[in-house]
Amino acid sequence: MLILKELFQINKSKRNLVVKKRETFSSGLTIFFATLGSAVGLGNIWKFPTLVGMNGGGAFVLVYFICILLLGIPVMISEFYIGRKTRSNPVGAFNKLKAKPYWKIIGYLGVSGSLFIMFFYSAVAGWVYSYIFKAIKGDFLNISSLSIEQANDTVSSIFESTVSASIYPILWQAIALAVVGIILFAGVKNGIEKITKTLMPLLFTLIIIICIRSLTLEGAKEGLSFLFKVDFSKITPSVLLAALGLAFFKLSVGMGTMITYGSYFTDDNNLIHTSFKVAFSDTLVSILVGMAIFPVVFTFGLEPGSGPGLLFNTIPLVFSKIPLGNVLLIAFFLLTAFAATMAMLSLVEVPVVFMAEEWNLDRKISVVITLLVMFIIGVLTVHPSSAFGHITVFEKNFFDLYDFISSNLILPIGGLLIAVYVGYNSKKEDVIKELSNKGKLNNTKTINLYILILKFLTPLLLIIVFLNSIGFI
Ligand code: PHE
Repeated sequence: MLILKELFQINKSKRNLVVKKRETFSSGLTIFFATLGSAVGLGNIWKFPTLVGMNGGGAFVLVYFICILLLGIPVMISEFYIGRKTRSNPVGAFNKLKAKPYWKIIGYLGVSGSLFIMFFYSAVAGWVYSYIFKAIKGDFLNISSLSIEQANDTVSSIFESTVSASIYPILWQAIALAVVGIILFAGVKNGIEKITKTLMPLLFTLIIIICIRSLTLEGAKEGLSFLFKVDFSKITPSVLLAALGLAFFKLSVGMGTMITYGSYFTDDNNLIHTSFKVAFSDTLVSILVGMAIFPVVFTFGLEPGSGPGLLFNTIPLVFSKIPLGNVLLIAFFLLTAFAATMAMLSLVEVPVVFMAEEWNLDRKISVVITLLVMFIIGVLTVHPSSAFGHITVFEKNFFDLYDFISSNLILPIGGLLIAVYVGYNSKKEDVIKELSNKGKLNNTKTINLYILILKFLTPLLLIIVFLNSIGFI
């Protein structure tokens, strides 16, 4: 009996230790940049233009904006609410909230969402690393002297060889994951968050430079009208689902990342403001990337719907038309690798914190297990022409399958459950108390509007898009 009691005491103090170890971000600005660091990544730079191109341009962009506003932001606020209130990981949070055990499914979905995203995200991050290397080697140096057709052929064959050279993409993917591992091991994550304050604005500036150059190309008008002109006939069920999935993917919501981040926020942070600021800045980055890329697409006669290679084909072309282009090209891919790494750190955090806090595993061991799983299963994403590439499931190769399962299924379903949990299973007073910082903010009207949207509009729209995409309505 005594032993049991002692054991219990030890366990209790261990748990207290875990609670005590939880740090918070130091200031409002750090919170903003750390959260933006998770949101801005390959989603803006690579995925946004790819999907806009594949889904017909302006109409997709319009639906995407609506999804951000009515679905992404309300879910983000809800995740911050859960995270800061419980100061816990996405599974533990529902214990603390004394929710019925089945709500923990949100946490489990989050852990699996993080894995599925990382399986293909780390592959694309690997492509970025290999482009840094190629740019340094000077592979893109002669593009400026080529004709349009030759330049096109050169960039597309460089991309093809990047993704299909059998061993290299795997190696680069391993490097991308190893960098994340090293940062987590060295425990410099906090330092990195500070660097974000400098590097993020630098990336932003570079994107603006590309934008300016692109907007003075011959294809600028056509590119802009592709991006912004809405052709309603293009809005199909699959376009709706893709825009919805991208909105969740972009804001890193629907899988508990923002629950984890919210758990580190300071008590005086205005959660609603932070959500809007992050969503606005993130969307701005995507739009600027779109404005940088589509003029190039039309100037060089590329195919807007060409898929995952779009970014990698257009960026070297536009830099070939800028003085000191190769140096800027290296800088661009370096900064993109940085942004991707920040996003990956937040993705990896979900399973790592889960294992450390729920299974009491050592944090470093959790990191190793997580990264190994990500690598072993992620390797299957390699290009169609290599070993696993020709295997398809539901007519999709592994790359597209992982992307579809995470972005179009796990994140929106997770988002729906989070909205329903906060909208219907949380006490309204609790929500108001947390979002108003115990009444200090005087924002009850805004909170009421948020609750209204969260209870009715968000779930309804999500369900309609889902049913629509499986041909039910
Ligand atoms: N938002 C990140 C990006 O756009 C990806 C991400 C998704 C990160 C989900 C965390 C959670 O690159």
